[in-house]
Amino acid sequence: MAKQIAAIILAAGKGERMKSEMPKVMHQVSSRPMLGYVLDLVKQAKIRQHVVVVGFKYQDVRAFLPKATKSVVQKKLLGTADAVKQALQYFRSFKGTMVVLYGDNPLLKPETIEKLVAHHVDAGAAATLLTAEIDKPAGYGRILRDRYNSLCGIVEEKDADDFQKRIKEINTGIMCFDRQKLAAGIKQVRPNNAKKEYYLTDVIDILYRAGEIVETVKAEDVREALGINSRVELAAANKIMQQRIQEQLMKDGVTIVDPDSTFISWGTKIGPDTVIYPFTVIEKNVTIGSRCSVGPFCRLRPGTCLADNVAVGNFIEISRSRLSSGARAKHFGFIGDATLGHSVNIGAGTVTANYDGKNKNPTVIRDNAFIGSDTVLVAPIIVGRGARTGAGSVVTRGRNVPDKATVVGVPAKVVQPKKR
Ligand code: UD1
Ligand code: CA
Repeated sequence: MAKQIAAIILAAGKGERMKSEMPKVMHQVSSRPMLGYVLDLVKQAKIRQHVVVVGFKYQDVRAFLPKATKSVVQKKLLGTADAVKQALQYFRSFKGTMVVLYGDNPLLKPETIEKLVAHHVDAGAAATLLTAEIDKPAGYGRILRDRYNSLCGIVEEKDADDFQKRIKEINTGIMCFDRQKLAAGIKQVRPNNAKKEYYLTDVIDILYRAGEIVETVKAEDVREALGINSRVELAAANKIMQQRIQEQLMKDGVTIVDPDSTFISWGTKIGPDTVIYPFTVIEKNVTIGSRCSVGPFCRLRPGTCLADNVAVGNFIEISRSRLSSGARAKHFGFIGDATLGHSVNIGAGTVTANYDGKNKNPTVIRDNAFIGSDTVLVAPIIVGRGARTGAGSVVTRGRNVPDKATVVGVPAKVVQPKKR
């Protein structure tokens, strides 16, 4: 991409329609704040400089931003034009293309931005807008075209008349501008609309009337245009993101038996020939090796790592734990803060009692140990190599089980193995 490109990401809004105490851009899509996806876009499209405009609960948003990311606080949420104006302070001497991205638009793809910018530069335009044709345009700004079919303005839903409301071509919110023309246009924006806000979209009409070239590019995949304003749209975005995440994993060799009932967080790594059975939930920060079998009805929580050839079955929850190759936990149970060695077998109903009311304590189960059904392992505890626990035993805290020993009972005690 050409060198002289900078981006402004708008993320100051409260997100009234979310009915939330949390800034809208921090709401999660597939276990990641939606703003994260927009930050990725800037990187993927190789845009070197960018500034994020923060406002509502800006400390929370800033805490999420990478340290090197510049942000500017919009003190009063006066509208998208005002937000861009705040960011422009950082670009006073910049000559080139400014891309404006909305933080509530996480499904956009970098190729689309690249296409938009390329068109903008080729056309020598003052502004170029990404539009989309959608069946239910309610809520979006509608594209107005003059008699030559050229873009001449954008009308917001709240300001649109009945005729305009029927227009199906919408403003995705993604635009690029010549920096100087943007700055000049913004100065002329007035808040004379239903929301009494300074609309960035008015800059289009201002530039058009000044005789400048304003261009449009249509998004090929309308789903990319989804702007998230409500929880319903959040759920829709999540569904699309799940599809993208899962399709990528499938391309990389993972079998997902029923994508619709499976939830896989963004960033999950899964090796080839692993099979994910229905109703599996994989939370963030989970790694799964090759040739594993997961689910059905399995919940893998943050900090879990399954090595190769691990089998975890139904109704089991695994949290902050590492299972080494060949480990099996095929039936209901809970494994938390645990480290399992190679080929450990976890019987049905096993529970690591990791929480004593104050602290989370670790459980270590060494290679080839066999945990009998319905065992409770009260942490901190170590079960030695090749050791066994009898069905229903309660191994109390600190009473480590020696290598190869067998323990049974409540509380569990070492017994001599019967000769068979
Ligand atoms: C906006 C567009 C609309 C477009 C739609 C696409 C305007 C006026 N309208 O409407 O044409 O179809 O997006 O999704 O631009 N923000 C700030 N500061 C503010 C106000 C908003 O930073 O003072 C940020 C928000 O955090 C959000 C983005 O700007 O990320 C868009 O604001 P939002 O209120 O969601 O605009 P829409 O009503 O969706
Ligand atoms: Ca929006």
